[in-house]
Amino acid sequence: MIISKDTKLAEVIHHNYQLIPIIYRFKIKFGFGDGTVEQICKKNNINTEFFIEIVNLFHNEDYYSTDKLQSFPLKYTVNYLLKSHQYFNRVKLPLIEKLIHELFWEDASNKKNKDILNKFFVQYRKEVIEHTTNEEKEVYPFILEIEKCYSENKTDDLCISKLKHKSVKDYQESHDELNSALLDLKNIIIKYLPPADNSDIIERILTEIFRLEKDMADHTRIENTVLIPVAYKMENELRKKIK
Ligand SMILES: [Fe+2]
Ligand SMILES: [Fe+2]
Repeated sequence: MIISKDTKLAEVIHHNYQLIPIIYRFKIKFGFGDGTVEQICKKNNINTEFFIEIVNLFHNEDYYSTDKLQSFPLKYTVNYLLKSHQYFNRVKLPLIEKLIHELFWEDASNKKNKDILNKFFVQYRKEVIEHTTNEEKEVYPFILEIEKCYSENKTDDLCISKLKHKSVKDYQESHDELNSALLDLKNIIIKYLPPADNSDIIERILTEIFRLEKDMADHTRIENTVLIPVAYKMENELRKKIK
């Protein structure tokens, strides 16, 4: 199913409930009746075309219209990426942490097992926070400045000084997957820990981790195939003008 402006948003959710967090990220509130994507986007001041590209990207593995996403102002993409950072850090990771705390083993291994799981979780969360904080404080603001200089056709001292010490290329070369430590966390649970006495919680933790992993992989894909190439192109154009 390809989601278009005339698709009813309720149908979209019935079709794929995993789009709920994406819709939430655009600040669309439920109770929207039979409205189409276009009607609901207009009501919520959301760019309909951008919304359609993002939901289709999450909905269909094969649907990936990079050209189309690259054509939107980068501030749309950055705004969306910031919202997903907030969702990872303020909603999903606290939820997984809470679930880990709820686990218990009735025998003497309880403390040891929880300590092992916590150690891996804390390491994973630390990596996510470092990654997202660097993007929020350094990378995204730099990219938005580049876009501003580029779109206003400015090559004044302020723009030149910004390009002197930084380049999108540095970010491109050092940009890692957010998911590297997740594999360890998943394997500890799937392969190594003895079964917990409330194993329903284990099922929830694993489901949450796999969902988060997919969300983060799509997030990184947007950074690598939309944000970086568009910003890098703008940066190069600016550098040519400065010479
Ligand atoms: Fe990010
Ligand atoms: Fe990233």
